[in-house]
Amino acid sequence: MRTKYCGNIRIIDVYKSVILSGWVNKIRNFGQFIFLDLRDCTGIVQVIFESNDHFIFKKASTLKNESCIQIQGVVQKRSIKNKNLKLNTGEIEILAKKINIFNISDPLPLDYLNNNSDDLRLKYRYLDLRKFALIENLKVRNQVTYLVRNFMNKKNFLDIETPFLTKSTPEGARDYLIPSRNYPGKFYALPQSPQLFKQLLMISGVDKYYQIVKCFRDEDLRSDRQPEFTQIDIEVSFMSSKKIRNIVEKLIKKIWFKILNYNLNKFPTISFNEAMNRYGCDKPDLRNPMEIIDILKIFNKKKFFDFFKINSEKKNRMGLLSFSEGEKISRKKIEKYCNYVNQFGAKNLFYIKIKQHEIGLDGIQSSIKSILNEKILNKIVNQTKAKNGDILFIIADTEKIVNKSLGMLRIKLGDDFKIFEKNVWKPLWVINFPMFKKDKFGNFSSVHHPFTAYKKNRNKKIVNNLENSISDSYDLVINGYEIGGGSVRIHDAKIQKKIFNIIGLDEKDQKEKFGFLIEALKYGAPPHAGIALGLDRIIMLLRQTNNIRDVIAFPKTTSASCLMTKAPSQVKNKDLNDLGINISVE
Ligand code: AMO
Repeated sequence: MRTKYCGNIRIIDVYKSVILSGWVNKIRNFGQFIFLDLRDCTGIVQVIFESNDHFIFKKASTLKNESCIQIQGVVQKRSIKNKNLKLNTGEIEILAKKINIFNISDPLPLDYLNNNSDDLRLKYRYLDLRKFALIENLKVRNQVTYLVRNFMNKKNFLDIETPFLTKSTPEGARDYLIPSRNYPGKFYALPQSPQLFKQLLMISGVDKYYQIVKCFRDEDLRSDRQPEFTQIDIEVSFMSSKKIRNIVEKLIKKIWFKILNYNLNKFPTISFNEAMNRYGCDKPDLRNPMEIIDILKIFNKKKFFDFFKINSEKKNRMGLLSFSEGEKISRKKIEKYCNYVNQFGAKNLFYIKIKQHEIGLDGIQSSIKSILNEKILNKIVNQTKAKNGDILFIIADTEKIVNKSLGMLRIKLGDDFKIFEKNVWKPLWVINFPMFKKDKFGNFSSVHHPFTAYKKNRNKKIVNNLENSISDSYDLVINGYEIGGGSVRIHDAKIQKKIFNIIGLDEKDQKEKFGFLIEALKYGAPPHAGIALGLDRIIMLLRQTNNIRDVIAFPKTTSASCLMTKAPSQVKNKDLNDLGINISVE
């Protein structure tokens, strides 16, 4: 149905006869001529119809935008004044000799020239996908999966599929459940990840596994989260976590080089604790130069604790962010930032504006001036290396609140004043996460998943010191996005049971939910470790979009529905009866 693609025709094709198929991108009728931009997946080419060719001129004049047609014509050079340098095909046009209309389009519900609402775009996703930018995202996605498969194959990884109809694999979200017709009242769970299967493959002796695989999680959605998303999932036996990170680092470097022609430097590695201390979060964007500075030592006295209203019984922190564009921060803005950090629990945002440091206290403006003296001021200035013109933001509270609030303020200031380094990529590994987190009722849960091994290899220690135990885990972060996470796994049934006990899974639940794993771990399970990379997030970064929907062909809304197919939807009572299900809520 075609001899060439629209976007590939060039000046060397002049005088050639071509057959093209595609869509009417735009049509303009000038009486003597009709100009039609014909579009296919490669680009646009201009087609011209002359009125002396009555038959096809008449046919062309019935065309509507987005109609699907076939053109037979001859490539001709455009005159200098008619060249369009914005198009790759702008030096030529096609003089139409024949037209075949496949399908005249109704007027589109989307207007490509204006911004359409997200809902409309999702309802007519197949039309939205006609836009080059979205198709380009899918092309890059295809290039990346091709690269990944090549890379993993060369390293002797086996691509093995794992089941979708399975049991729950806890990754911190709710499961999507599938009722079973054969076993009324029983349910499969869609996998939140292939975690347990890849571990079982290691026990089988597979050695090196990978899979580009869909995962399903029923959780609150955000701009970088979808209920079904894709992982590049990896697991290896007999390999240290450092070596696995090394392989993944090479893969990511390869992707960045092939897709963006960008050479990533060696990825720095920092611990979870260091990340929290310096950036207040475990996925810092290193393009933002600001770091949190500790000043608790300077104010470590009861009178200061009283001033800052700190409860000395708790684990506290006094942190400071030094921002160099102090002149741009009016009192009103300080108030705005104070309100901003309030939502993360900080009671107050204190500040010191350094105007003329050399003249001492008279050279500053500050909300804590009443507790400052020259000595303290000098200490602060020395520690922060603050210069005239800087503003120092201080939060004093529990460690958790200070980290969260200053971490978020760091991001907000970075965004508001565009102090990010431009056009750079800053990957890093964050390692050694805590094993457990404790909720307000004193219950423990795993920070990674419960199959993660802990760092100290002495079982006793972990039970004595749960809050400080560290897991052998690692996250990969690029420009503030967590694009991967993994860990060394527990390969001993007794230790696995111990961890289940700690996170409150009683013997019955352990047996019911993970009996097969605990049993498998008893039959010579090898040491193994792995990681999963979020493919969608990698493509988001490569295509520089901050909405994950832009890189998925048929994404869901933030409330996990598909506006195009109207899923989820009701089913017939008969089907429910077959499944033994009775709906009690409308
Ligand atoms: P984790 O839960 O950290 O680890 O997931 C790995 C990576 O998957 C991506 N990701 C998501 N992407 C889009 N939408 C979501 N809802 C979503 N959730 C996660 C992130 C994340 O870093 N089984 C473990 C891995 C392992 O231990 O090997 C796991 O799934 O980029």
